[in-house]
Amino acid sequence: EQIELDGEWILPGFVDGHIHLREPGYVEKEGIETGTAAAAAGGVTTIVEMPNTTPPVLDVDRLEEKAARFARDSHVDHAFFGAITEENVGTGNIEALAEAGITAFKTFMATSFGPLLMDDKGVLYRAFEEVSDTGLPLYIHAEDEEYLDEFTTRCKDQDGMDAFFDSRPPIAETTAVSDVLDMVEATGAETVIAHVTTAEALSRIRDGRADGLPVHAEVTPYHLTFDRSDVAAIGTAAIGTPPARDSQNFEGLWTHLRNGDVQLLGSDHAPHRLEERDQPPLEVPPGMPQLETAVPAMLEAIDRGRLSVEKLVELYAESPARLHGLYPRKGTIRPGADADLVVVDPDREWEVDATRFESAADYSPFDGMTLTGMATAVYQRGTMIAKGGETVSEPGDGIRLS
Ligand code: NCD
Ligand code: ZN
Ligand code: ZN
Repeated sequence: EQIELDGEWILPGFVDGHIHLREPGYVEKEGIETGTAAAAAGGVTTIVEMPNTTPPVLDVDRLEEKAARFARDSHVDHAFFGAITEENVGTGNIEALAEAGITAFKTFMATSFGPLLMDDKGVLYRAFEEVSDTGLPLYIHAEDEEYLDEFTTRCKDQDGMDAFFDSRPPIAETTAVSDVLDMVEATGAETVIAHVTTAEALSRIRDGRADGLPVHAEVTPYHLTFDRSDVAAIGTAAIGTPPARDSQNFEGLWTHLRNGDVQLLGSDHAPHRLEERDQPPLEVPPGMPQLETAVPAMLEAIDRGRLSVEKLVELYAESPARLHGLYPRKGTIRPGADADLVVVDPDREWEVDATRFESAADYSPFDGMTLTGMATAVYQRGTMIAKGGETVSEPGDGIRLS
């Protein structure tokens, strides 16, 4: 097939190492079919799917059950996370999941969506030791649950959006990150601090790396687009977890990114139903659809001179592929040999309309915004899977990579 290009870019298919679908459990929020169609439409040809589905992926049976659903319904190539919680530490399931082909683990130090919580630091330490033995990376949601408890109680009677922001303060993140760095140092487990939102946490991670710790910082396009005042102005549809921070932290994320202190971009696509967003801010479930806006948001940042295209490819394709062991692909001779490609029009202006998303979630913090840049054609292993923001592949076209 011939592609005609005029002022467009050909980039590698993007690799998102951090997305949540809701199948099994809550297909009405996002099933495998709709969520992977959203990935294709957005220019993401490979996803690694988080384990906090219901039931969560705590053992090999649940992994294989999920993989069978993906084999039937996924539009894009995929790999899986295994979950770590107090239930499976010390049971042999962690090692077994690693052997069964997951590419990373996830654990939650703080309450988020789903039944997974690991707020016992002693068990968390044992989990780090077990993960270290597998050689796989551990993604960690690093917010200190004690601070969240304390501040949420304090904010309970507060009205409006501030209640939400104040219930999850920056210190909950920086404290948790410090604890994690200690555990990385003691155990040597390769660790990703997921969705970092504060400049202070990035400074600490940078210092840890300078001391030789195998720790990586992941930032989301959401936190690189919106600060706290933007979210307050948009309303509950734009609430994310952890929260968008003040403008100083927002600029701090960008400064650190430019200084090389950010290793990964991950969208943290995590949909809920639109009607669930229409609640008091403290009740809004965490997470938003991001797969159809992640690449465009970063193209917009390129358009504004905040980011280079080389850096985008490094953070949202090459580095996640390496971290998850998907680079080069199994069975290929060299990276890129199987032609996962995205054609990008960096000048295309378009208005985000969440009601038109492939995702089952019909809301977005980007809804109504005009963005400059979009993936106009997306190829997976040489076959077109999306065009002009619409998916043209069939469920089941995606393959399991690990
Ligand atoms: C995620 C979810 O909803 O599954 N939520 C979120 O706010 N990002 C879980 C998570 O990454 O914390
Ligand atoms: Zn998280
Ligand atoms: Zn997440």
